[in-house]
Amino acid sequence: MSDFKIAPSILSADFARLGEEVDNVLASGADVVHFDVMDNHYVPNLTIGPMVCKALRNHGVTAPIDVHLMVSPVDRMISDFIDAGASWITFHPEASDHIDRSLSMIRDGGCKSGLVFNPATPLHYLDYVLDKVDMILLMSVNPGFGGQKFIPGTLDKLRQARKIIDESGYDIRLEIDGGVGIQNIREIAEAGADTFVAGSAIFNTDDYKATIDAMRAELAK
Ligand code: DX5
Ligand code: ZN
Repeated sequence: MSDFKIAPSILSADFARLGEEVDNVLASGADVVHFDVMDNHYVPNLTIGPMVCKALRNHGVTAPIDVHLMVSPVDRMISDFIDAGASWITFHPEASDHIDRSLSMIRDGGCKSGLVFNPATPLHYLDYVLDKVDMILLMSVNPGFGGQKFIPGTLDKLRQARKIIDESGYDIRLEIDGGVGIQNIREIAEAGADTFVAGSAIFNTDDYKATIDAMRAELAK
């Protein structure tokens, strides 16, 4: 598999210079901007919303913006983020009243849709909606904060998700989020991921290009 995408999570960026940080990380070779939306209800933290997504578009960001909704309820935020210029929108199935409806809203709005699974959330939420999903995002930490340690059991779950995708015949990306860095990205790719969210591992380094290059070198091994 060669279509790997690296998606820096701006949760660990300097919010006082957000436009510049996003420009830098994209110029350093990132493919996607991962945008973490937390509501102090579904998760115990509060971050950024549609206005900030819109501001990045107005700033000139043309790369895909991967909106990870950690909010409940989800549907209102889906329509607001469609209007704000999101490209991909993922949500946690247990936070939606009607999963099928929320997924349809995303695609009808012209965005790619996806479900996010916490470390202990079973994959069976996919059973009846696989045809409406463009992306499966597995959390390898409990959501809410950057800088946590990768939970090793996620590797097995990645293998299960990869099998589900391959057997389905659908074109579905498999994204991983939490504790991803140069030291484990290869092992994670071998377990089946093709899209890698990394926040602290990129933004807490001085040279984003060197870090992203090192991740790609691991993926190419
Ligand atoms: C956690 C967020 C992640 C987070 C990842 O709830 O969904 O996207 O920013 O941060 P790192 O890469 O530092 O684990
Ligand atoms: Zn995220």
